[in-house]
Amino acid sequence: MSLLGFLDRVADVATFDKAIEPARRAVQGALRPAALKDALHGTWIGHPVHPILVQVPVGSWISAGLLDAVPRLRPAATVLIGAGVAAAVPAAASGAADWAEQDTGVRRLGALHAVLNSVALGLYVGSLAARRSDRGVLGRVLSYSGLAIAGGSAAIGGHMSYAQSSGASHAATAVRALSKDWLDLGPLDDFPEGRPALRTGSGGAADVPLAVVRRGTTVDVFVGACSHSAGPLQEGTVEEVGGSQCLVCPWHGSAFDLDNGEPRRGPAANPQEKLEVRMQAGRVMARVHGRNR
Ligand code: FES
Repeated sequence: MSLLGFLDRVADVATFDKAIEPARRAVQGALRPAALKDALHGTWIGHPVHPILVQVPVGSWISAGLLDAVPRLRPAATVLIGAGVAAAVPAAASGAADWAEQDTGVRRLGALHAVLNSVALGLYVGSLAARRSDRGVLGRVLSYSGLAIAGGSAAIGGHMSYAQSSGASHAATAVRALSKDWLDLGPLDDFPEGRPALRTGSGGAADVPLAVVRRGTTVDVFVGACSHSAGPLQEGTVEEVGGSQCLVCPWHGSAFDLDNGEPRRGPAANPQEKLEVRMQAGRVMARVHGRNR
C-alpha cells in the first residue's frame, strides 16, 4: 500500500457516519444566507476559495516554526502564530462549506481533516497562552506539535483534492476526452425549447455526455458532467438565478450562466465548460472552445 493509500481505506469506513451526517446538516443549517455559503465556496470568483485561504495559516505557522529556531526572532514567531490562528477561522469556514456538499468518501476524510486541524488550532492557541505567561519552552513544544499535526492534516487535504477530486472541476476533466473537431449534434428543430437535452460528443478518447439548451434560435452546449461533482446537467433545469438564465444541476443545485458557464449559485465554484456553437444547414454544430483546444 502506498504511503497515503491507507486514506482510501479510511474513506471506505462507515463507522463514524452517524456522527458525520448530523455535523453536515448542522454546517448546512449554520451557513445562511445562501450568499454567505456561495462566498465561502468561491462561486463569486469562479474558483474554490478554501485553497486560497489556507495559505495564510499554513504559511504563518511554517514561518513561525523557522523563526522559533532562532532565539532573538521568537517574538516575531509569536506574531505569526497569532496571525495564523486568526486566519484559520475563515479558512475552516470555507472548508466546512465545501465539505458539507461532498460525496460520502470525501466527507469521511474531510471529517478527519477537520478534527486534526481543530487539534492543531487548539495547540497553537495553547502556545500563545504559554508564550504570554513566559513559558516559552512549553509554547514552542505546543506550536511545533501543532505544526506536525497541521502538516499531516494538510496531506489528507491534498489527498482529498488530488485522489478524490474534491474541489477539482469534473467538467474540465471530461472535456479533455472530446474531439477538437466540430461535432454534428443534429437538426435545430429536434431540440426542445428551454430545457436541456442530452447529446453525446465523441471522436476523442471516450464519448462525453453534452447538455444542450435551446432558446429560440440560440443554442448553448455544455459538457454534461457538472464541474462540482459530475452531476448530469442534461437532467437539470433551466431557471433564472441572480438575474441570469442558468442551467441548474439536479444534484446539489449549482446554477451556471447559459451565456458563459460562470457559476451563479454554488456549491460549484468552477465554471462549467461551454462549447462553441454554429449553425450549418439547420444543424447544430459544436466544438471545444478556444481556450481548451
Ligand atoms: S454535482 Fe453538485 S451541483 Fe452539480
